[in-house]
Amino acid sequence: MNHLSKTSHLARGLIAATAVVFSFTGLAFAEVNIYSYRQPDLMAPLLAAFTASTGIETNIIFAQKGLEDRIHAEGRNSPADVLLTTDIGKLGQAKKLGIAAEITSPAILKVVPAAFRDADNQWVGLSMRARVVYASQQRVAVDDLSYADLADPKWAGRICTRSGQHSYNIGLIASQIVRHGVETTENWLAGVRDNLSRRPTGNDRAQVKAIFSGECDLALGNTYYMGLMQTNEKDPDQRLWAESVKLIFPDKSTVGTHVNLSGMVLAKNAPHLEDATKFMEFLVGKEAQRLYAELNFEYPVRTDVAVSDRVQSWGHLNPDSLSLSEIAATRRAASLLVDRINFDGGPQ
Ligand SMILES: [Fe+2]
Repeated sequence: MNHLSKTSHLARGLIAATAVVFSFTGLAFAEVNIYSYRQPDLMAPLLAAFTASTGIETNIIFAQKGLEDRIHAEGRNSPADVLLTTDIGKLGQAKKLGIAAEITSPAILKVVPAAFRDADNQWVGLSMRARVVYASQQRVAVDDLSYADLADPKWAGRICTRSGQHSYNIGLIASQIVRHGVETTENWLAGVRDNLSRRPTGNDRAQVKAIFSGECDLALGNTYYMGLMQTNEKDPDQRLWAESVKLIFPDKSTVGTHVNLSGMVLAKNAPHLEDATKFMEFLVGKEAQRLYAELNFEYPVRTDVAVSDRVQSWGHLNPDSLSLSEIAATRRAASLLVDRINFDGGPQ
């Protein structure tokens, strides 16, 4: 079930049914309805700051999947104003389903670089996460690698990763297709597959655990997992996994490291267009940008907002400047490629 939290005084007006329905008392008041893939506890401080500074209340529902489909199914009666996502796959899907309005606010477009926005401004990025290499402190001497290096036979039996079909790997593979074309990327990916120490399995953190336990020496993973492991109170073992690795930012001194985006969509049928726009403008403001990125150990999309000390300690991010919009549009080609070479079958 979706987690539902209501920050406005109309909490009692909410009706939960097969779909959650935001209800209205007939009184006109300022509010924004947010459908979110971001965890409510990550969003809470930001929502409180937004309400404190604008007087606009927020209603948020959270789910791990299906929010774009839900807005699409709700159609013209959808209560959704803003969709918050954590991956370009879902941003691209919102556009494809036709549920996204063009974002026209100059206050937003002026501060978010074009590479981190949809070509038609149907979504705007809020924070970046880099897809980096986690490398064994003990067994990997190098501090610099390219994505291309991962196909070098010298790493045979030493690389592990989650499924090639996971959206994080699809984003990376799509970026390689945009840059090098399908054929070169196919050869590269087959080389990576043949260097795997095992069939792709588990999530990003499970790969770091595998490095810790000696199963492999290099793994693909998103940067923020380093922060989530380093500060893990519930599972202190994860701190040991994190201590066993260093982060290598592939291609850092050439074309830059692949990044994915968390971002926002303005719903085409947003019932509170004006307040929704204020909320989105708030999220790209300097203070919210700092907070939004810091809460999940990410990088602000604004170039004039500094990253947190912890994130900075992992090394400097030089983000690949390929258009994320173009990468999102290439995801299907990447997915077909992963299947064609049976990447998830492991070394062949
Ligand atoms: Fe993640």
